[in-house]
Amino acid sequence: LFGRPWIFIRGVPAMKFLPPEGPPEIAFAGRSNVGKSSLINALVGHKGLARTSNTPGRTQELNYFVPDGFSGAEGDLPPMALVDMPGYGYAQAPKEQVDAWTKLVFDYLRGRSTLKRVYVLIDSRHGIKKNDEEVFALLDKAAVSYQIVLTKTDKIKDAGVPRLIEETRLKIVKRPAAYPEVLATSSEKSRGLEELRGAILTAIAR
Ligand code: GTP
Ligand code: MG
Repeated sequence: LFGRPWIFIRGVPAMKFLPPEGPPEIAFAGRSNVGKSSLINALVGHKGLARTSNTPGRTQELNYFVPDGFSGAEGDLPPMALVDMPGYGYAQAPKEQVDAWTKLVFDYLRGRSTLKRVYVLIDSRHGIKKNDEEVFALLDKAAVSYQIVLTKTDKIKDAGVPRLIEETRLKIVKRPAAYPEVLATSSEKSRGLEELRGAILTAIAR
């Protein structure tokens, strides 16, 4: 699936515009600028697919991506969708707008029955922050399976990566819906992508 082209199918600005529940969905959540859109592009090998930016607050809707070649008609649905999300935490946008994105993200995460797995991205340089903990708590409460992905490992020393993985694991190991294995990635240097692709394929097969 990751070897074929992927396409953007829909941007969802509010819950009422969500597509009918269908194929399994895999969502990418995390603070603004953590590298969600870049990671989706790296996973599918298509640089310009999801829009990325240096400025926090680039992704402003729930953006749906699916493998190409499925009509979407009954019996020809794509086998999964990747959902890029607006970031939480901070953004260079007016407060009301940021609040609206955060509400959309939280409502989607707790209320989508076809959501199979959430990848919560954590910047390797910054670690887990308070708002990440809020997202973990929400996912635990809603019993939505999630896994932590460290991003931008090219920005820290190689020798620090195993320690960071272990520190992060210890912070989530007691959380009921968290998958205990922490993945480490760099979209820039294509690190950890094969492991993440494998984890996604396993999650949708469940
Ligand atoms: P929002 O949509 O604003 O929430 O951000 P996002 O989480 O989608 O982040 P995005 O993918 O737009 O990336 C933010 C910035 O981080 C961009 O300048 C990217 O080039 C940079 N970036 C993303 N991944 C990596 C990485 O693996 N390594 C490095 N060095 N930079 C990265
Ligand atoms: Mg984005």
